[in-house]
Amino acid sequence: MTGLLGNSILEICYIAASITFILGLKMLSSPDKARKGNLYAAYGMGLAIVATILFKEEFSSEKTLNYVLIFAGLLVGTLIGTRMALKVKMTAMPQMVSFFNGMGGACAAVISLVEFDHLMHTGEFDLGLIIVIVLGLIIGSVSFSGSIIAYGKLEGKIGDKALPAGQILNIVLLLGILGLGAYVTVMDVPNEMFIYIILGLSLLYGILFVMPIGGADMPVVISLLNSFTGMAAAFGGFLYDNQAMLTGGILVGSAGTILTVLMCQAMNRSLTNVIIGSFGGGGAAAGGDKEQGTVKEVTATDAAILLAYASKVSVVPGYGLAVAQAQHTVHSLEKALEEKGIDFTYAIHPVAGRMPGHMNVLLAEADVPYPKLLEMEDANDQMANTDVVLVIGANDVVNPAAENDPSSPIYGMPIIDVLSAKNIIVMKRSMGKGYAGIENELFFHDKNRMLFGDAKDSLESLISEVKNL
Ligand code: TAP
Repeated sequence: MTGLLGNSILEICYIAASITFILGLKMLSSPDKARKGNLYAAYGMGLAIVATILFKEEFSSEKTLNYVLIFAGLLVGTLIGTRMALKVKMTAMPQMVSFFNGMGGACAAVISLVEFDHLMHTGEFDLGLIIVIVLGLIIGSVSFSGSIIAYGKLEGKIGDKALPAGQILNIVLLLGILGLGAYVTVMDVPNEMFIYIILGLSLLYGILFVMPIGGADMPVVISLLNSFTGMAAAFGGFLYDNQAMLTGGILVGSAGTILTVLMCQAMNRSLTNVIIGSFGGGGAAAGGDKEQGTVKEVTATDAAILLAYASKVSVVPGYGLAVAQAQHTVHSLEKALEEKGIDFTYAIHPVAGRMPGHMNVLLAEADVPYPKLLEMEDANDQMANTDVVLVIGANDVVNPAAENDPSSPIYGMPIIDVLSAKNIIVMKRSMGKGYAGIENELFFHDKNRMLFGDAKDSLESLISEVKNL
């Protein structure tokens, strides 16, 4: 159905979809409503897709093949997406987000190519349209290739690789792409070859700017790429005069940009350095093989005594807590110690784990009361009064090299200041490195004791020892 009624239904569906996107995004800011918010937005997107298919154009038998292709695409995409989302482990979410984000970027780039081709056939060269097409192509392609490299790095399939003079090369490449893009928009008849050169250079730029980024800084890059895809989708919305696509793209673009800025602040990085791929490279280099001293171990019994006679205990959760799925166990330890009148809180680093808010989501799953989760600044303020800090499966976020080793790839990143606490116990399986692939001098510090073992097993031992005291 098309005509006035069809168009009106379509507009109403787009408005309804836009409302679900806004509501969904709002609900994502609270852990207990986040799941529902995500579903609302997904239903809204489904509505926008179905309404477009039904009401955008009148059905004619000549277009049967188009409809078959659209439905085949929907089916294949839905099956692959659902399977991936059902199978993915919580700790592998960033890879999946990166991969899906890359697909969004690729779609935006393909839309630009198709629309450019359409312009070449109709000969209606509208300056506004060409600008939107070129911008969508550049941002979508950078986002696609950058996200796929980020996916490979997060999966551990691609290492950090920096070319000599890589930053200068990236700046020259970026200026070249923008210059060429500007040239295409002012040409009387845009040259198709230039569009393909822009495509190639943008794909190359996406690879080169993500390639050297060090492990610990990947969250910032993923967030930036996410905002790129949002912007590219918004350009698609302009092209098709599609409000749902426009609203969705603007929301993703602006939310991603805000998150990127917040992450940059949290990691003490500059946005310009992120864009030219110039920080945190050379993962394993610094602090790598330095002789660090001796490591002192502690038994679960001694650790439990220390905890049971403390007045204030703080836990620094990290990626290892998620791997061990020990969120419920740490909550049980919290309850056991609280029964003894001990003040128990969690110190949450903004990039602990493998995705923004990972620790908050993990602990919310175990019904840890939200007020017990302290943000890094508040936790650090209280550290000097803390008797025992338990570092559970965290490594990079408590690495003092971030403060005192300028050659370290994580130098400048704020950390949870566990050294200010009276006693430190690090719980992990071995002397293994964290995501950034660097040694951690905290483990050799005089104040620190290592409790080796899987986080869940060690926590269970601690709980039974604490209960026996
Ligand atoms: P990491 O530095 O990655 O360290 C995790 C530690 O957990 C490892 O050293 C590992 O040591 C230990 N571990 C693994 N499995 C364990 C288990 N079953 N039981 C006990 N310990 C276990 O973690 P972090 O301190 O949370 O830092 C996060 C890092 O990831 C940062 O570098 C951050 O930039 C990066 N990153 C974060 C994000 C976001 S947005 N959060 C996204 C991508 C990357 P063992 O092998 O010795 O046990």
